[in-house]
Amino acid sequence: MFQYEKKLQYPVRIKTPNPKYAQIIISQYGGPDGELGASLRYLSQRFSMPFAELKGLLTDIGTEELGHLEMIGAIVYQLTRNLSPEEIKKCGFDTYFVDHTTGIYPVAASGAPFTAAYLQSKGDVITDLHEDLAAEQKARTTYDNILRLVDDPDVREPIKFLREREIVHYQRFGEGLRLATDRLDEKNFYAFNPSFDKHCLQNKKGGPCDKKSDPRRT
Ligand SMILES: [Fe+2]
Repeated sequence: MFQYEKKLQYPVRIKTPNPKYAQIIISQYGGPDGELGASLRYLSQRFSMPFAELKGLLTDIGTEELGHLEMIGAIVYQLTRNLSPEEIKKCGFDTYFVDHTTGIYPVAASGAPFTAAYLQSKGDVITDLHEDLAAEQKARTTYDNILRLVDDPDVREPIKFLREREIVHYQRFGEGLRLATDRLDEKNFYAFNPSFDKHCLQNKKGGPCDKKSDPRRT
């Protein structure tokens, strides 16, 4: 269950509309490394995480990513207010406009609509946390690219905030990965899934993973 707080995580107050910027920044709404994919990735992966701390971590970050999705929606909305048809054509916003007017739609800057193929939920703690670490770096690079293209400080400041949060998330997932590997049998942690192979956990009786459950066994 979620509780909605009626304010953005970081304020967005853009004075000058700029549809060209909107067309670039929409990628962090519905693009391959955007906030929608991030929130769905973490809020889906959390169910199969074997440790309470990791379920909490995925829930925390997944929920924050929904707040970031809201910020990106606000940025795009404010960048496309009160446009004239001439401005829409001049800035190349016409291809988005013809399909969505100035509504907020989950799409990449290239025009490709959002797809769940942007994310994975594999049900394996090591695999999922590595995906999450990579996802945070890809999001950080996308924000770096946006900052290379955008000059308006009203747009740059919230984008810089979002970029910093990706770095914090990367660090927290790194801590989560260390916590996971500390609790697994270190000789075998790439070879079993702790959601199923519970006898392989360090804190369970029975010692290290036996040969029968090792998928690499010959
Ligand atoms: Fe993130």
